Amino acid sequence: MWGGRFAGGPSAVMREINASIGVDKRLWREDIAASRAHADMLRRQGILSEADARAIDEGLNAVGLEIGEGKLHEDAALEDIHMHVEHRLGELIGEPAGRLHTARSRNDQVATDFRLFVRNCIDEAVEGIDALEAVLLDRAEEHADTVMPGFTHLQSGQPVTLGHHLLAYREMMVRNRSRFTDARARMNESPLGSAALAGTGFPLDRDVTASSLDFDRPTANSIDAVSDRDFVVDYLHAAALTSVHLSRLAEEIVLWASQPFGFVTLPDAWSTGSSIMPNKRNPDAAELVRGHAGRIIGDLVALLVILKGLPLAYSKDLQDDKPPLFDAHDLLALSLAAMAGMVADLTFLPERMRAVAAAGHATATDLADWLVSDAGVPFREAHHIAGRAVAVAEAAGKPLDQLTLGELQAVDPRIVDSAIPRLSVESSVAARTSAGGTAPAKVREAIAAARAAIAKR
Ligand code: ARG
Repeated sequence: MWGGRFAGGPSAVMREINASIGVDKRLWREDIAASRAHADMLRRQGILSEADARAIDEGLNAVGLEIGEGKLHEDAALEDIHMHVEHRLGELIGEPAGRLHTARSRNDQVATDFRLFVRNCIDEAVEGIDALEAVLLDRAEEHADTVMPGFTHLQSGQPVTLGHHLLAYREMMVRNRSRFTDARARMNESPLGSAALAGTGFPLDRDVTASSLDFDRPTANSIDAVSDRDFVVDYLHAAALTSVHLSRLAEEIVLWASQPFGFVTLPDAWSTGSSIMPNKRNPDAAELVRGHAGRIIGDLVALLVILKGLPLAYSKDLQDDKPPLFDAHDLLALSLAAMAGMVADLTFLPERMRAVAAAGHATATDLADWLVSDAGVPFREAHHIAGRAVAVAEAAGKPLDQLTLGELQAVDPRIVDSAIPRLSVESSVAARTSAGGTAPAKVREAIAAARAAIAKR
């Protein structure tokens, strides 16, 4: 394809280090689509004859059918998917195949193919996020009233509702969704026609190729177009952050399923056993979601480091952009699907959650709040009084909400019996009615608002 100025062939190792077909064959659909768009534009502009354009188009269609049937013959000498497609086209249609590469370079070709591929990855990620969001909303609705301990520092803080806790992940997923759609809007420009780096003297119509590939417009600068991999970084960043959120949820599932917590049982479908310990039910899928996040973060870092020292325009280092993207895409798709499945199928154990929530004196803030609202005590002093009540409860070996009125009045005589019902975990969560708060009523409102927002997308 480029041997005109060479007398000898590449060494075996040169061939091996140079070849990317084993990886970039995944771009075959995009490569064929972009080539068809390019050839058709060349025809419209009178650069290709009708007959040649038709032969190329039919030939590319045939190559696509072959590859779709798994009949790609990989040859390291042909380096990458672009040369494989063009070479096979030549075998099928002969001379006109050699005209396809007019006013084009592999540099704008790969940039175009890869944008098309990443655009699909974005659409898939959004679908995966939407599916997880739907499951989170359903489970949150089911558990709008379920009380669980809310933690800070992994210490019981205040009771919350499980519905509210699950909706926190829904918020993260909504932001991740917008990260992907923002990236899509920014990257949706066609590099085709940038050629190697400088543009071309042929009278191309770049708007035509852009619109036939559903790009919003052609890229503005040919040097940027062949060097830019920001769009991949944007994808990887969104993927990495999504995977970090999934990993936090995965970590919670691992904790919740452990015996000391006992907040959930993992169904058989999401558990593995041990080859030696017959008792085991392990949360492997959650652990792998947590592990995959590490790999996806690595993919993002790998590409950033590949890019950081590159002078403009194209350098072959850019060929190494694909493994991290493919890896991240595959891992993210699995992670999203596994998380949606796990959340859908988890059995929550509300009695245990409630018991742990009640055991941590987690309504001490409610006692302080009562002292402020019903007895006019300044909050700082109320905090101190409630703290002393916790110490009394601890010494008596019972939870705060089990102290008698007498015990509470010994701490501070301003406490009267109307304070006591405020100390149950149910009243505590019901009282948290501030916007965005954990009260069951607020959780139901949040779910309704989420469903309305989804219907408008
Ligand atoms: N396989 C190459 C890549 O993925 C295609 C571009 C090759 N361009 C070149 N000038 N050698 O980056």
